[in-house]
Amino acid sequence: MGHLTGEVSYSKGLEGVVAAITSIAVIDGEAGKLIYRGIPIELLAEHSNFEETAYLLWFGDLPKKDELENLKRDLIEHREVPEELVDCIKKAPRDTHPMEILRTCVSMGGCFDTDKNDNSRGANIRKSIRLTAQMPTMVAYYSRARRGLDIVPPNSNLSHAQNLYYMLTGEIPNEEISRLVDVILILHMEHGMNASTFAAMVIASTLSDIYSAICGAISALRGPLHGGANERVLEMLQEIGSVENVEPYIMQAIKEHRRVMGFGHRVYKAYDPRARILKEYAERLSKEKKNTKWTQIAEKIEEVMIREKGKKGIFPNVDFYSGIIYNLLGFPKEVFTPIFAIARVVGWTAHVLEYLQSNRIFRPRALYNGPLDVEYIPIEKR
Ligand code: SDX
Repeated sequence: MGHLTGEVSYSKGLEGVVAAITSIAVIDGEAGKLIYRGIPIELLAEHSNFEETAYLLWFGDLPKKDELENLKRDLIEHREVPEELVDCIKKAPRDTHPMEILRTCVSMGGCFDTDKNDNSRGANIRKSIRLTAQMPTMVAYYSRARRGLDIVPPNSNLSHAQNLYYMLTGEIPNEEISRLVDVILILHMEHGMNASTFAAMVIASTLSDIYSAICGAISALRGPLHGGANERVLEMLQEIGSVENVEPYIMQAIKEHRRVMGFGHRVYKAYDPRARILKEYAERLSKEKKNTKWTQIAEKIEEVMIREKGKKGIFPNVDFYSGIIYNLLGFPKEVFTPIFAIARVVGWTAHVLEYLQSNRIFRPRALYNGPLDVEYIPIEKR
């Protein structure tokens, strides 16, 4: 038995443990609901945009016109990255995953930030906005450089969502694609105490700087059990290859106790509301692009997985349909998770800013199950 005195409880992976009190977002896992600052995600996806929802998460209320214009201007003003960073991106090994380059760029970018030695709330808000503005540039520059394409500098006439699409593809998006990218960023922006947000909070709780906290968050998001799943979903669809192959493939995965990427969630035991919205967009876009193969395979996977695992609360999560959309938009697979990070940096920084207002360093306990009173044997006698 463990060697801790007093009342202790151990929950693997901190399942069900409340680590913070927040007013930023709430998830109803049983009902499949996600609410940002009291507003259901469905309403924000229908009516809002990246900048407005970022303001809501950072500052607690929807912005007034001038507040929104000021934030849009700030984000546009800080899209460029230092020349030294551009050099680093251009010289980075081409076979490095963009999430590792993003982690490196954020770390190096912090060294150039004029507020780098200021951990005050005001400085952290400025740094959060600068990071949010620059991450799309970091991702797009490396994505194009690694494909041997010229980098496309930010366009100050475009919104945050439009500019992301423009820097990745070199094309200015039409109204429909602009709307879709805004929705994707809104849906990925925030999700309570997920692994990457918690990682950022743990680092920030030591009063380390916010760039270090975001590097930790990027590192956590990279994992295939978290943000890295969207890339693997597309690989799975390509591996399955046809609707006919779905049943045998999924039944074999279940038989071998393999995790099917894009399904399951620690909190949702119902359909992830984000996946529901993304599925609609994926179906609409695949019809428009006359390329319905991947959505048909995905829908068959969903049918088999819900039949086999739905009673255990395993349903599609946010990563299941997003990859199909990105693929149809012409984004290379390796930027799927960086796009998740480009949106989630708002949630990460919002939680760091909120937690620091009443900070306490995270320091959980561990239940020791090793030996005690072991004799020290000199090396010559071992
Ligand atoms: C994200 O936390 C967040 O909010 C994350 C996120 C966010 O916005 O930040 O929502 C984003 O990360 C979404 C999740 C993306 N990851 C994947 O799609 C990878 C596949 N999913 C699983 O690895 C898993 O569902 C997790 C990691 C998402 C959740 O894992 P848990 O809560 O630790 O659940 P578990 O691994 O303990 O599984 C419980 C049971 C097991 O069955 P038994 O062994 O008890 O019989 O459910 C089964 C698992 O086998 N199960 C799955 C499954 N996920 C869980 N079986 C098949 N396929 C799956 N995907």
